[in-house]
Amino acid sequence: MDIAYRDDIRISAEAAIDLCKRSTLGDRRPVDRPDIFEGMLTNSNLIVTAWHGERLVGISRSLTDFTYVAYLADLAVDTEYQRLGIGTELIHETKRRLGRECMIVLLAAPKANEYYPKVGFEHNPRAWVLKGG
Ligand SMILES: CC(C)(COP(=O)(O)OP(=O)(O)OC[C@H]1O[C@@H](n2cnc3c(N)ncnc32)[C@H](O)[C@@H]1OP(=O)(O)O)[C@@H](O)C(=O)NCCC(=O)NCCS
Repeated sequence: MDIAYRDDIRISAEAAIDLCKRSTLGDRRPVDRPDIFEGMLTNSNLIVTAWHGERLVGISRSLTDFTYVAYLADLAVDTEYQRLGIGTELIHETKRRLGRECMIVLLAAPKANEYYPKVGFEHNPRAWVLKGG
């Protein structure tokens, strides 16, 4: 399948929300709050999207200094396109845009917890969250 990976396309909050819903990540993101999605997209400095023709089929959204750490805030692939290697390729495309020594840190969604060891991540039991709201 011919999938294009792009870092130069600014997607709308509506498009990101729609992809979240199509990937099931929408269960864990505020898909009823386009204002929050607007901030997520505007203030991220590395967003790689995956396209099958005109169809948005995946996203990797990170906040990063490009040298030390990248926080991979969202990784999502359209359910119709899952298990085809697109998630792995989105991680590679993200890493490729970072400095060689830069690490990637993320919080896994429960459904994806078994995915990350398969794509090279090490489990870190010292992740901490200070919740908003
Ligand atoms: C998790 C997700 C990003 C993976 O993307 P993908 O394109 O489906 O995954 P890939 O095709 O790159 O899979 C690579 C390998 O991991 C496996 N894998 C994929 N999803 C998995 C999951 N949820 N749990 C365990 N293994 C998984 C694949 O079977 C494949 O294994 P193989 O190499 O032995 O065949 C995608 O399934 C998704 O969007 N899930 C819903 C949203 C979500 O939970 N996102 C993560 C938020 S932290």
